[in-house]
Amino acid sequence: MLQTYQTGRTTHAHVSPFNQDNRPQNTDLQTLDLQANECSEMRKLVPVNLDPYQDFQGFTAKAMRSIAMMDSDNLAAVRKFASDPAAPGAMLVSGLPTDAALPPTPLDGEPAKDRESYVGETMILGLASILGEPVGYETEKDGQLIHNLIPIKGAETTQSNRGSSAFLSFHNDSVYDAQDHYHVYNPDFLILYGHRADPAKAAQTFYISARKLQKILPSKIIQILREPRFRMAAPANYTDLLNGGKKVWSKPMPVLFGNAEYPEIAVAANGVDALDSEAQTAFDALTAACQHTDNHASVVVDSGQALLINNRKGLHARSSFKATYGPEERWLLRANIRRNTWQMRDRMTDRTMVFS
Ligand SMILES: [Fe+2]
Repeated sequence: MLQTYQTGRTTHAHVSPFNQDNRPQNTDLQTLDLQANECSEMRKLVPVNLDPYQDFQGFTAKAMRSIAMMDSDNLAAVRKFASDPAAPGAMLVSGLPTDAALPPTPLDGEPAKDRESYVGETMILGLASILGEPVGYETEKDGQLIHNLIPIKGAETTQSNRGSSAFLSFHNDSVYDAQDHYHVYNPDFLILYGHRADPAKAAQTFYISARKLQKILPSKIIQILREPRFRMAAPANYTDLLNGGKKVWSKPMPVLFGNAEYPEIAVAANGVDALDSEAQTAFDALTAACQHTDNHASVVVDSGQALLINNRKGLHARSSFKATYGPEERWLLRANIRRNTWQMRDRMTDRTMVFS
């Protein structure tokens, strides 16, 4: 059932300006709660005897059949989320099927062996197919098309999905570009599917849109953020793997850019270099606005939920949490999605849907 979806132009049924805590709904986050009958119909079409880590394309085709059992109004809402510039930047889908016999969380961060089922992978690939094309990048988890996000012992303080005790600051997911651009080849969308939340349910994912930031920040700050007075660091995975740990910076670029009502935003996880003191002040104001709890949407991605994130409309972050490294440790799946792979053809590799 579509519970909340409100944009400047469109209002659907079941819209409430308040969430369950009776606080004003964050307009960056749309929620979609599936009914039990939808869940059971989707589960019936989960592929059997097929491993998505071995036969990605074959598995994804079958996953599309499963996700298509969602109510047509809900499917339409996901399609609208994918394609409407006015749609919110994040969508939380709840009530998805889950794996009944999920093994202990694989603490090495690699896909678990000897799985009896791939229900979670069916959901994430089905949803990804509505948003666009799931893609892999060679420098991100060796080009894997489905990422298993699990806190890793020894990486607690890193600014990455392997970390836990450090706040993962507001950023876009990005990929290194040898042309020194920052945003051109980045995924358009991410999906996080919850196999398991962390046992204390303390790991929150945050999201804030550029649109909202433009409403919050003073016009002088916005004007500076719209000027090419910033450089974005290439992701740490590229820097560490292929550049001896030395940072690589983009060309000077704005943080906010494009259409005034529907802006895009760029903030690198691995560092932003403000080129003068005024630019630094503006960037600090942006960071403070992102971190204020009244401004960002907050979600603990739990079992059977998928958080769909528009990686161009807004920034995401993750709270710190205490990893336990037990069998019930936090375990999310992630997919990177492009609406269009044609513009990435010069970065093709010999692996299906994997780009440099
Ligand atoms: Fe991220």
